[in-house]
Amino acid sequence: MKALILVGGYGTRLRPLTLTKPKPLVEFCNKPMVFHQIEALAHAGVTHVILAVSYLSDMLQREMEVEAKRLNIKITLSQETEPLGTAGPLALARKHLQSDNDPFFVLNSDIICEFPFDDMIKFHKNHQCEGTICVTKVEEPSKYGVVIYEQSSGKIDRFVEKPREYVSNKINAGLYIFNPTIVNRIELRPTSIEKETFPAMAEDEQLYAFELKGFWMDVGQPKDYLTGMSLYLNHIRHSYPERLAHENSIVGNVLLDPTARIGERCHIGPNVVIGPRVIIQDGVCLKNCTVLADSLIKSHTWISNCIVGWRCSIGKWVRMENTSVLGLDVSVQDELFINGGVILPHKSISESVTEPKILI
Ligand code: GDD
Ligand code: MG
Repeated sequence: MKALILVGGYGTRLRPLTLTKPKPLVEFCNKPMVFHQIEALAHAGVTHVILAVSYLSDMLQREMEVEAKRLNIKITLSQETEPLGTAGPLALARKHLQSDNDPFFVLNSDIICEFPFDDMIKFHKNHQCEGTICVTKVEEPSKYGVVIYEQSSGKIDRFVEKPREYVSNKINAGLYIFNPTIVNRIELRPTSIEKETFPAMAEDEQLYAFELKGFWMDVGQPKDYLTGMSLYLNHIRHSYPERLAHENSIVGNVLLDPTARIGERCHIGPNVVIGPRVIIQDGVCLKNCTVLADSLIKSHTWISNCIVGWRCSIGKWVRMENTSVLGLDVSVQDELFINGGVILPHKSISESVTEPKILI
């Protein structure tokens, strides 16, 4: 089977992390975001993954070659010369997607869940129509695609992308299976699968909803990334508890790379992810945050609800909170307060940031 992952553009909503690393390679819970998906796809029997990208980077190409070898699958990069939206990339990859009559997966690259690929295949084969989309329930549906469908069969009556008025709280989770004939509906131009293709398929009674079980999150923005992290850790707690850290200073769900070092009298957790070679000195308190590879957190610092980028150095007695996000190689001097600071790569901070702002 094949799968196409919509990787898209520059990942602006995850800046400053995406200023130095392509979004699919930004680590989520100590693994590049897109590797969560590729591994699950390979596990479900996918042998060819097409990454639809609207820009190319050497880093992405190199990492994908390594990943393809490791999983013994083929990974193709399908590059757009202009961003083709969420449907156009399927037309661009037509020769791959229509090379046989097998259905294929399509995924948004920024979602995280317990990927139910095997069950999706069964459901799709059962209804025998052109498309299946996964749906999940959320409290704030207005920033998603909303789906109205028959409870008994799953047949979708309406699909409304980002509705202004409340329609339903069942939303498009960004995971699909399609028959190759869907490509005949899509022109090679910038076009939206949610605004153009899905409403037409619903009209033709060719689109079905598969209800997702378990957790789900779009982690394409810092706040949601942190929410997704705690949901994912909770899932690990139930399914693979041995992967979580159990040291003295650990509270609740914490994922700790084996090469990271934690000092004395720390308070780490709940909901913390610590990357490779990170050094945490004595008396540090971390809650609801991710610390990416090679960073240093000096003694008695307190960090809550933040993402600390790679190779950062955070001084002693620093207090950092409120969805602060630090890019690569940021240094923060001792005793500062950082409240909702978005700090660009290679910056050195010597004054407190008392109100949320971007520091260039
Ligand atoms: N190749 C390519 N080219 N990919 C693109 C492009 C493009 O021009 N534009 C967007 N993408 C990719 C993004 O990288 C992402 O993986 C996916 O398409 C969806 O785009 P987002 O920008 O993340 O959309 P969204 O989060 O606002 O809404 C989408 O996801 C929701 C679930 O998270 C929609 O599919 C909604 O219906 C859905 O509910
Ligand atoms: Mg998204």
